[in-house]
Amino acid sequence: MILNYDEVNDLDRYKIMSDTVVPRPIAWIVTEDEGVINAAPFSYFIPLSSNPATLIVAIGEKTPNVPKDTLANILKNKKATICFTNKDNLEQLKLCATPLKKEQSEVVEYNIQTQKVLEDFPPMISSSQSTLFCEYYDTVKLPGKTTPVILEIKKQFIEDDRIDDKMHINVENVGRCGAFFSAMVKI
Ligand SMILES: Cc1cc2nc3c(=O)[nH]c(=O)nc-3n(C[C@H](O)[C@H](O)[C@H](O)COP(=O)(O)O)c2cc1C
Repeated sequence: MILNYDEVNDLDRYKIMSDTVVPRPIAWIVTEDEGVINAAPFSYFIPLSSNPATLIVAIGEKTPNVPKDTLANILKNKKATICFTNKDNLEQLKLCATPLKKEQSEVVEYNIQTQKVLEDFPPMISSSQSTLFCEYYDTVKLPGKTTPVILEIKKQFIEDDRIDDKMHINVENVGRCGAFFSAMVKI
């Protein structure tokens, strides 16, 4: 069957795309503003290029015409720390999808341990096996309620035993398959 996207409503289109483009990595994005550490998951997220080392993440609105805290913080402060989730911290990541007031911090509310590894970037989630320290690069103009933001990776944390001498990385990320979560396994 052919699905004609012009004839599918927004919610069904979201469901169809999310169930089809699988698995999607999850960016657990930590940002900071006015001393408040914000952390939230995003799966409309993908690498774009390795030179420049760029990623794109599409972030929606919190309420009509009000950006989600992550987007507001990135546009204002130009920094984002992208952590990856694994089966041990997945429940914490899910909690971070709960909308909170801008002045509330998910890491404080849900008692999530973070650590400041680089002075000029937001802290990373301590239990993340790998983390990308990014700067704002550009915004893609799209009509609608979602803002795709391009971020440039400037530095990366990787647990020492997850990188070998040939620069091969071995992480146990969890990604998103439609509404479900799935461990990324090698086959
Ligand atoms: C696994 C997962 C993936 C998500 N992906 C996105 C996404 O790609 N874009 C988006 O706008 N919201 C996404 N959300 C919802 C946000 O995490 C949620 O709106 C969150 O409250 C935003 O927080 P903030 O206002 O602190 O940025 C996702 C939620 C989950 C659980």
